Amino acid sequence: MLNVEDVKRDFPVLKNRDLIYLDNAATTLTPEPVIQSLQEYYKKLGASVHRGIYQLANETTEEFERARNSIADYIGANSPREIVLTKNCTEGINVIAYSLERWQEKSGKVLVTEMDHHSNILPWRFIANGSKKFQLEYVEVTKEGRLDIEDYKRKLSPETVAVAFPGISNVLGTVNPIKEVTNLAHENDALVILDGAQWLPHRAFDLSEYGVDFLTFSAHKMLGPTGLGVLYGREELLRMMPPPFGGGEMVLNVTRQKVKLTDPPQKFEPGTPPIAQTIAFKAALDYLEKLEVSQIKDHVDNLTQRAVNKLSKIPYIDIYGPKEGEPRGGLVSFNLEGVHSHDLATALDSLDNIAIRAGLHCAQPLHEVLEINSSARVSFYVYNSNEDVDRFIAGVKEVKTILGGENGE
Ligand code: ALA
Repeated sequence: MLNVEDVKRDFPVLKNRDLIYLDNAATTLTPEPVIQSLQEYYKKLGASVHRGIYQLANETTEEFERARNSIADYIGANSPREIVLTKNCTEGINVIAYSLERWQEKSGKVLVTEMDHHSNILPWRFIANGSKKFQLEYVEVTKEGRLDIEDYKRKLSPETVAVAFPGISNVLGTVNPIKEVTNLAHENDALVILDGAQWLPHRAFDLSEYGVDFLTFSAHKMLGPTGLGVLYGREELLRMMPPPFGGGEMVLNVTRQKVKLTDPPQKFEPGTPPIAQTIAFKAALDYLEKLEVSQIKDHVDNLTQRAVNKLSKIPYIDIYGPKEGEPRGGLVSFNLEGVHSHDLATALDSLDNIAIRAGLHCAQPLHEVLEINSSARVSFYVYNSNEDVDRFIAGVKEVKTILGGENGE
């Protein structure tokens, strides 16, 4: 079991502020080893990578590539050449989408899901609107908040170019059947893009188990620095795909008329990459491994089920997504009858120093399907405790009493 009090001590923000931080699905707080790693880069290294021929540049490049190796190992990639470093998960999906549009000979449907967030909708929507090559279709969500596999099978065909979906929904918390979705897509010769932003922070992920063609996630949702995303792509695909952006260090040779690109991953990393962030992300991965990913999952599952259990006992609450006891990622979205989610979040913050997310969570189409115009969301991580959940529940009841009129307790 995680010792939460020990873990909390590693997070300066929690020492410096009186705060219950429950917005981990948006971004996580940063532990000391990651902060130290960032400082060490700026104090002891600080050169660019893959450019200089002096000692400092070589040492920086070694540290940077060592971090890339760690990322590859963390997800079971065959080689660090399959790990492209991007600005965030969103940029990774954009790189895949715009590259596929130029490279894929096949034209037809791209399937996303009604539970996707905007990062996995807008790149495909823009391409579908701007060219005749891809048409965008949505796999429906059942009223229980699951991916409708029968609808997926109906929409999937040999004309499907790609299927892009989240491992875990950032609003519903639904844990999607990655293997089933991937196998069905591959039977139809469609590529699979998995948005792992909400999966990777608290679940083990081994590429050899799931067989997806692409995976994207963000460092800052798993204790790493902001400004770094990971795009995994199968090496043979990355070799064939053209990069959507151009710039320095992605080429073997440039004349005034012609460009000869270098191999992946550098071919997709024009310009100076996120050097400090990548090196410090290794410290985050080491930290997660020290805590043990299976223990993180158990801890986050316990907190989430505790929150679902206590929220569902409150009569004036609607909870979205899986029922109590069913698999769920580390988050719960809900609405409190008669209180707008923004008012709830503002009141919890000002009365109890509890930070939660409110609004559309960058997933407006899903809110349209749920027929609500916003929701409140709590999401948990390694430094949250049972007491945090209980104080949040007490805060919700308090806010209902103050703002929600006669239904309050
Ligand atoms: N997708 C991010 C979230 O859920 C922005 O908060």
